[in-house]
Amino acid sequence: MNQDHAERDPAERITAAEKAQEVAVRRELEEYYRAGRPPWDTGVTPPELVARVEGPAALPPGRALELGCGTGTNAVYLARHGWRVTAVDLVASAVQRARVKAEAAGVDIAFHHGDATRLDAGCAPGPFTLFFDLSCFCGIPPHRRDAYAAVLSQRAAPGAELLMFGYGPGALDDVFSGVTADELRDRFAGWDLADVTPGTNPVPTFWFTLRRRAHD
Ligand SMILES: C[S@@+](CC[C@H](N)C(=O)[O-])C[C@H]1O[C@@H](n2cnc3c(N)ncnc32)[C@H](O)[C@@H]1O
Repeated sequence: MNQDHAERDPAERITAAEKAQEVAVRRELEEYYRAGRPPWDTGVTPPELVARVEGPAALPPGRALELGCGTGTNAVYLARHGWRVTAVDLVASAVQRARVKAEAAGVDIAFHHGDATRLDAGCAPGPFTLFFDLSCFCGIPPHRRDAYAAVLSQRAAPGAELLMFGYGPGALDDVFSGVTADELRDRFAGWDLADVTPGTNPVPTFWFTLRRRAHD
């Protein structure tokens, strides 16, 4: 028997191992939220995002898409600063908490519960001028990462910015594989990697800024 065919999920054309990795990632994330407040859910918007929204070279408010919005701290922050925000997360309970937070803040945000790598064409059509990702991509199984890049490329306005925080390879547990600058250059065709700034964590972390080229 052809092993490759034996292992593939006919609906998605992924291997059993890839499917198992997706399930493991989702379960681990769900468990973080089930257990209470995950360690990343500090309620504080990172200064790197604040700088892009309020700093001397602030972006003009436009449409923003947050990939992996968790309980909505940054989505609410952006909405409060005049952005039209769409936000997606894989974990239903995180999105529920985010909706409550947005309602309490009196801001209107389009939340979606689902996989950022599998957004339907009609879901969150954009175009967006800002994408924000706080260690979502670095936990996505590698076989779904080109789909993630395609989701953003299809929805990016010319010159759109992707601000991404990511853990380097080996910085997280075995389930989450991390991200490098070279990987982003390879996967994000039509984008320029404009900046890589190391994070301040004890393990390797990075703030990446990518810009969608006007023509590509
Ligand atoms: C480190 S947390 C950050 C959450 C939030 N942005 C914050 O600052 O608190 C990463 C988030 O990405 C979400 N995530 C991971 N993979 C995802 C995927 N494929 N699609 C959507 N969300 C995903 C997780 O559920 C988690 O809430």
